[in-house]
Amino acid sequence: MSRQIIVGISGASGAPYAVRLVELLAQNDVLVHLVVSRHGRRLLSDELGIKKLDPDQLTGGRVDRLIIHNENDVGATIASGSFMHDGMIVVPCSGNTLAKIACGITDNLLQRAATVTLKERRTLVLAHRESPLSLIELENMKRVTESGGTIVPLSPGFYLLPQKIEELIDFMVAKLLDLVGVDHDLDMRWDANRIEA
Ligand SMILES: Cc1cc2nc3c(=O)[nH]c(=O)nc-3n(C[C@H](O)[C@H](O)[C@H](O)COP(=O)(O)O)c2cc1C
Repeated sequence: MSRQIIVGISGASGAPYAVRLVELLAQNDVLVHLVVSRHGRRLLSDELGIKKLDPDQLTGGRVDRLIIHNENDVGATIASGSFMHDGMIVVPCSGNTLAKIACGITDNLLQRAATVTLKERRTLVLAHRESPLSLIELENMKRVTESGGTIVPLSPGFYLLPQKIEELIDFMVAKLLDLVGVDHDLDMRWDANRIEA
């Protein structure tokens, strides 16, 4: 059976990270279960001009590798603990969605799937975007971490000397793929020889 990863897009800045992640997962033969919050849709529109989710565009032609779930459908497969998957990534993760997950509140399918992922002790990665952070957000991150989740601040490094925005996006997407154990060809690993050359 092919691997299945849930991707949640919430209403924080950073929609390009999410779109690139979905594309690479699909290209790597991973079946992607995508759920986008209402504000996540707004950010896709504001930042990328995506008004309607197009499976062909999102997967680079691998439409059989994408299932799009309605954020209001808390009865979807991914809402159940019996649904076997290989991890969930919320990218970008807003402070609101972080807070809901930290408190076990499930107002939409994204939050429900994340909460269930934690209770089933599966991999949950929250790629959070906000700056600076209040103590409330730090406490919420602590709670999620103590419950087994991983917080990934969307803060790309510059030590590989990026020349394009796409390289900054790929820097973070490579980390996210690593965290769910999906192979990739993104050349984003530290190599001192490369910098010195
Ligand atoms: C243009 C725009 C950018 C935003 N950027 C962020 C952000 O980077 N981080 C954040 O936590 N919230 C951000 N917000 C606020 C969230 O969208 C808002 O808190 C919303 O309730 C989140 O809902 P969701 O978590 O269900 O997606 C932004 C809102 C807008 C309109």
